[in-house]
Amino acid sequence: MRTWAASWALLLALLGAGCDDDVDSTDRRPTDPARVERAGEGLYRRYCALCHGRDGEGYGADNAPMLAGQEWLRSASDEFITAAIANGRPGTPMSAWSRAHGGPLNDTQIEAIRVYLRSWQRTPRANVEETVVEGDARRGRLIYVLQCAECHGARGEGVDAVALANPAFLATASDGFLQYAVSHGRTGTRMVAFRDRLEPEQIDDVVAFIRALGDPAAVAGALRPPPEPVPDLPALADMQLVINPQGRPAHFTLREDRFVPAADVQRELERGRRIVILDARATSDWLRQRIPGALPVPFYELDAIAAELPRDGTPMVAYCACPHAASGHVVDALRRQGFTNTAVLDEGIDFWAQQGYPIATGPLDAPAPAE
Ligand code: HEC
Ligand code: HEC
Repeated sequence: MRTWAASWALLLALLGAGCDDDVDSTDRRPTDPARVERAGEGLYRRYCALCHGRDGEGYGADNAPMLAGQEWLRSASDEFITAAIANGRPGTPMSAWSRAHGGPLNDTQIEAIRVYLRSWQRTPRANVEETVVEGDARRGRLIYVLQCAECHGARGEGVDAVALANPAFLATASDGFLQYAVSHGRTGTRMVAFRDRLEPEQIDDVVAFIRALGDPAAVAGALRPPPEPVPDLPALADMQLVINPQGRPAHFTLREDRFVPAADVQRELERGRRIVILDARATSDWLRQRIPGALPVPFYELDAIAAELPRDGTPMVAYCACPHAASGHVVDALRRQGFTNTAVLDEGIDFWAQQGYPIATGPLDAPAPAE
């Protein structure tokens, strides 16, 4: 227990200090640009490469977009990039990474990552911020339904491409940025350049329609700073590692020796079976919405925690929103360390929540259901 508590304290210290890697953990800005870029590279590899790919090629996990693409780098402002990293895209696998949201990164580190992303840019910035788009959203709707919905979803919810209706996206994406994306596309991805297929007015119409996809109140709310202060993660001493410690072990039939359906996990929890549930996402996500009793075991901190997990064969299920990348990473690492009774929640937490299964939020968990 003491070692667990000690390493938990270490983890919290690391989280609190924002795992400084190379960048000052104070919020002083380091001045040497090469040093900032190197630090950004280290941070990128640790926190971002899992989904966005080692070299920013994207699609490491599901729909994580390319970040090394020239069209994106040309049209994205520093503010847009910083906001995307700091605040994330709630409701998608993109976490909020800033400490203000309970994530692991301080402002200096977020800036270092942005500087590193910019080092991939080969062509000058396009001046899109001043562009005023005056399209007709009603006309744009038809174009959208025919040409865009298949990938971005009828309501912009994202099928297998970026969720265009996401309030945090719309709050920071300028009209010029949207117009540039539609017009120039994103070389190397499935997003084609629509200037070859649509008239300029039609592009403006569809941009107006994308704007109209957002719920105005949610878009305005996305710009509001997070509630202060963000609650600390609870100390391990206050957390229960094992759910239903007195119960019989949960029993699962795994698909491909790996995946367990959400319905099976929910059923075993309802039956009071013993289980450890691991939330593999960034800590900000754990604070926002989790399976009750799940431990924060972010994929980038696993090593600090794995040593302390029970070695008595208690079944462990890891989940994320990707829906497999971060949880798969955690399960692979645990299996390498001899935790064989481990599984990945097949559909991920978003599906779990959609089913109306129990959800906890905030730093304190509801007590696990009694036997
Ligand atoms: C668990 C997977 C995952 C991880 C880890 C992750 N991202 Fe993302 N990221 C995504 C997904 C998915 C999206 C698209 C979300 C959507 O559907 O709108 C995204 C979107 C973004 C965007 C917005 C791009 C745009 O034009 O809309 C940026 C910038 C970004 N991520 C940077 C980062 C950085 C930097 C890190 C590391 C600190 C990171 N991401 C870590 C999955 C991830
Ligand atoms: C075949 C699938 C597909 C179709 C059809 C498609 N897109 Fe995309 N779109 C994507 C993908 C994938 C991305 C992200 C590319 C990347 O990695 O940068 C994207 C990116 C975008 C972006 C930038 C989003 C961001 O976060 O940076 C906008 C805006 C956009 N698409 C609008 C449209 C519009 C409008 C249409 C129809 C006229 C359309 N797309 C059709 C797949 C598609």
